[in-house]
Amino acid sequence: MLLEVRDLHVEFTTRDGVAKAVNGVDYCVDSGETLAVLGESGSGKSVTAQAVMGILDVPPGRIAGGEILFKGRDLLKMREEERRRIRGAEMAMIFQDALSSLNPVLSVGAQLGEMYEVHRGMSRKAARAKAVELMDRVRIPAAKQRVGDYPHQFSGGMRQRIMIAMALALEPALIIADEPTTALDVTVQAQVMDLLAELRRELDMGLILITHDLGVVADVADKIAVMYAGRIVEAAPVHEIYAAPAHPYTRGLLDSIPRLDQKGQELYAIKGLPPNLLRIPPGCAFNPRCPMAQPVCRTDVPPLYEVTESPVPRTSACHFWKECLHA
Ligand SMILES: Nc1ncnc2c1ncn2[C@@H]1O[C@H](COP(=O)(O)OP(=O)(O)OP(=O)(O)O)[C@@H](O)[C@H]1O
Ligand SMILES: [Mg+2]
Repeated sequence: MLLEVRDLHVEFTTRDGVAKAVNGVDYCVDSGETLAVLGESGSGKSVTAQAVMGILDVPPGRIAGGEILFKGRDLLKMREEERRRIRGAEMAMIFQDALSSLNPVLSVGAQLGEMYEVHRGMSRKAARAKAVELMDRVRIPAAKQRVGDYPHQFSGGMRQRIMIAMALALEPALIIADEPTTALDVTVQAQVMDLLAELRRELDMGLILITHDLGVVADVADKIAVMYAGRIVEAAPVHEIYAAPAHPYTRGLLDSIPRLDQKGQELYAIKGLPPNLLRIPPGCAFNPRCPMAQPVCRTDVPPLYEVTESPVPRTSACHFWKECLHA
């Protein structure tokens, strides 16, 4: 397994108390595989990714427990020096907002080239040639002419391609894309998503795709992990989750996807508010909003139940996953 996160806990110390942002996350992704991580705002998707990348804001953040195995070795036990090497060369992250992630006063070619100068010891000229090659690879038209342009001279979609190129430069084994298309319009979103999926196949990388949007993942992901209140509440191969969710929260997410055949009808929305991470409800964190909640849900934290085993295990953190599956 390329990456395996086990029982990860992350807390933030805030003025009002300790916010439990990540509460025992388990997920894994292998080479050549795409894992989509889904969930409402504040569910801990980005914080988990930051912990994996080693870019968590510490303090106020703190890893309170768990393991992050990369190629079998626990990143949390490594020396900072080695961690930094892995972060530079073996894993890369793509963020939502390319404009604030790219350096505004350096040309795109200089930024891409720098990756090769710093990490591969290439000459400036050779690095520049590599930069053009990368821009071609992410299908930026007229790469050779545009290599000296600055980030603000590119459109949003093109800038996002440049971010992808930066992430790909050293051919990492793992890419984490945190809402890479949220800031783009729908057509461009689809193009960027297709590009990512294609490159992932070509380079046999593992890809973690973080998104709010169940609609976009169907075509690109192999499996889905749904997060709620800092926990994975359901994990499954992508087609199985669409066919029948095994957690009421996933069902709620699916029901809130706009559908063309229901135009004009009011869109379903999950009732209530996301939990306060300073005071996560006892029992199942979703129970105050759950249409299927029973008394046990208010007292007992559901374990991760195994819904099906092979080849990709399917799990649900719902006491009533069977009822949900057949609802
Ligand atoms: N630097 C920080 N200091 C304090 N709290 C933080 C910090 N970073 C994140 N958090 C808290 O951790 C929780 C999870 O945040 P996270 O960014 O992982 O959510 P998310 O699932 O990525 O949401 P979104 O979909 O909005 O990006 C949030 O409640 C947030 O307030
Ligand atoms: Mg986020």
